[in-house]
Amino acid sequence: MLITGLSGSNGLEVGLSRAVNKELLPIEMKLFPDGESYIRFVKDVRGEDLIIIQSLYPNQDKKFFELLLAVDTAKDLGCRRVITIIPYLAYTRQDKRFLDGEAVSIKTLLKTLSFIGVDYLITIDIHKEESLKFFNGNSMNLDPTKLYVSKLYGVVKNPVIVAPDQGALDKVVKLSKLLPNSTYVVFKKFRDRVTGSIRHEFIDVDVLGRDVVIVDDIISTGGTVANIASYLRGKGASNVYVVCSHGLFVGEALSKIYSSGVSRVYSLNTVPLPVGVEPIDITPLLIDVILSLNIT
Ligand code: R5P
Repeated sequence: MLITGLSGSNGLEVGLSRAVNKELLPIEMKLFPDGESYIRFVKDVRGEDLIIIQSLYPNQDKKFFELLLAVDTAKDLGCRRVITIIPYLAYTRQDKRFLDGEAVSIKTLLKTLSFIGVDYLITIDIHKEESLKFFNGNSMNLDPTKLYVSKLYGVVKNPVIVAPDQGALDKVVKLSKLLPNSTYVVFKKFRDRVTGSIRHEFIDVDVLGRDVVIVDDIISTGGTVANIASYLRGKGASNVYVVCSHGLFVGEALSKIYSSGVSRVYSLNTVPLPVGVEPIDITPLLIDVILSLNIT
């Protein structure tokens, strides 16, 4: 088995190959003057199983196309199986036709990966697990809950764990089972499908003097989290913590979140994170999954 990382790997392949004792495969990558991607395998990969690590952010389309080049070339060169680890899978939120005529983007993306010959797709905390039905092969969605707990345990005291919307219900249920003396609440979120603006329907929850943890899969503009944090601080919450899997923090998102009264923000390191966000390393999760694949 060989392990490699492309430009969106966040360097994870280095620690992983050491931890699972598998060879690191160097891939030459560059951009042509006009911006086109170039990749070249500099070692024979015939008959090998190859793990390719690539998150699809920032610059989702570029990262995706680079991944297609790598998978297709690996297959051309005679790789036996190609396993892609995509810690952050982009386009997952466009998982249905919300408005007539829209592209179902995640379907297109996963159909393409199937077509190009990906044998096994591994991702972390996909927006909706059902979307994996669009991938025609083996797939696995890794649960980040234990990683969240490893950071929050002992830091938050008797917390109220908050799901910004129904989609995060599972997350808060799992987390509250592992954080002592916690309770959870699920808010309702409404998004205007044309303008993208959001509105919350809050439940009157007693957070006076309590720690709060807001949990979400993706933070993009920070609007969702900031909206909830302001509300809960107004209700007297003492500390508001935020934990997410994929911290994209577009533009001023992070300062918006801190201005709303948040004390600390944690994110998995599935994408590059800005200063001010405490990273949660996904390497242990990936080591476990690679070892469980039982590939020699
Ligand atoms: C949407 O349903 C996701 O789970 C997140 O809540 C959303 O992506 C957050 O976006 P933003 O940070 O722009 O409010």
